[in-house]
Amino acid sequence: MPTIEHTPGPRYRAIAQAIGDAITSGELAPEEKLPPQRRLADALGVTVGTVTRGYAEAEHRGWVSARVGSGTYVKQRGPARVFGGQSGMQTDDDTIDLSLSLPPPHPLREQAMSAALSALSTSAQALRRSVAYSSSQGSDDHRVYLAQWLEQLGMTLNAEEMLITQGGQHGISLALGTLLRPGELMAADALTYPGAISAAQQAHLKMVAIAFDQDGMCMEALKAQCARQPPRLIYLTPDQNNPTGICLSEARREQLVALARRYDMWLLEDGVQYLPAEQRGTPLYQLAPERTLFVFSTAKVLAGGLRMGVLRAPPVLLDRLAAGLRAQSWMVPPLMVDLVCHWVAQPATEELLAWQTQELAARQRLVSDYLAGYTLSRQPNGSNVWLTLPDGVRAQELCERLNQQGVKVTSAEPFCVGSAPAPQAVRICVGAAAHQAALVSALVIIRKSLEQPPLATETV
Ligand SMILES: Cc1ncc(COP(=O)(O)O)c(C=O)c1O
Repeated sequence: MPTIEHTPGPRYRAIAQAIGDAITSGELAPEEKLPPQRRLADALGVTVGTVTRGYAEAEHRGWVSARVGSGTYVKQRGPARVFGGQSGMQTDDDTIDLSLSLPPPHPLREQAMSAALSALSTSAQALRRSVAYSSSQGSDDHRVYLAQWLEQLGMTLNAEEMLITQGGQHGISLALGTLLRPGELMAADALTYPGAISAAQQAHLKMVAIAFDQDGMCMEALKAQCARQPPRLIYLTPDQNNPTGICLSEARREQLVALARRYDMWLLEDGVQYLPAEQRGTPLYQLAPERTLFVFSTAKVLAGGLRMGVLRAPPVLLDRLAAGLRAQSWMVPPLMVDLVCHWVAQPATEELLAWQTQELAARQRLVSDYLAGYTLSRQPNGSNVWLTLPDGVRAQELCERLNQQGVKVTSAEPFCVGSAPAPQAVRICVGAAAHQAALVSALVIIRKSLEQPPLATETV
């Protein structure tokens, strides 16, 4: 009979942890049966449901197994030797973390992963490939297969112009490290994806912020920058800026390409933040194939943990990029690429994407309802919302206030390029909520916090 009253966090987790501790200390031996749930519930003063959840959590962590009609038994191996444990970033059950840009959770993701792993484990070709070195660009059949899948998602990429990367972030770093020398200038929207800012810093590049409005990057501002000092490369997320959700207008795409040609600049187009094809503009890799590198990844369509993406580049750059990739890690493990190929081969993947599109639209509608009257910027099927705060509300104070109430969002600070002042705004990642009810709880808290008067400062 464990004591759990001093263990922090939810009761069911405390029960699971107590089981793990008892196995580690030898109090519970392998094959020993756990007490009946009703008896434990009475002894601990909790409901039977809580004990059931605690046992299920211990099973999930690999410490015990339930046998139908018989009870729950300690596994042969103790927790110290069991690999794994709690999953994900979730640290506290009560926190609603809307600070990370994630696709909405759905059991189909784990199911698809499980089915793909099973298929992979019996594929002689995949197993043979998984233990061998392969080309740094990725094997031909992997690239051809991925190009076919991307075509279904509305991205027409030539397999020969693709490199397989370990996700979108890797594609960005590889492109910047290969194309630009330390000290060279790269431009981006004044608010942009923080991973691109870090990649530029790692490559010792100078970064310049270009002003933007509701139609995306301002071409007048870019033109003025080019007249002063043309950047070597412009990084953009044209369909859906992260964090603002803004889409670069068609007219500006044309102007951008004309400027890029005039000043001989590379374009790094980031399409990782997924939108259905009909909501995307004309890709820059189509408008200016000779100077556009395009980054895509499975992170926002399948799962972030897969760490797999593609980098499309003009043919003249492929050898240099492949050499860069080889110098970093020789190649992306073919095992992961095969896993992705087996994953997308399942009909459930289409079902998952269709569900996700609807789900994000429903979540965006909830935002419209609960934050009506506030200044919001987002795409109808986007996974993020950019909330410009009303006069008098400061982002840092709001974030702290929300944090105290168990809701996490992100201020503009990490998205700022250079040293320009951060606007008073926050990014809310609606996809990250466990379900719509959790999102609603967070939105109610956000709305109430926005309505509260500011706190008097304690600084003198
Ligand atoms: C715009 C953008 N690019 C790239 C990435 C990184 O993608 P990956 O997780 O595949 O490295 C993200 C992740 O949020 C993103 O929002």
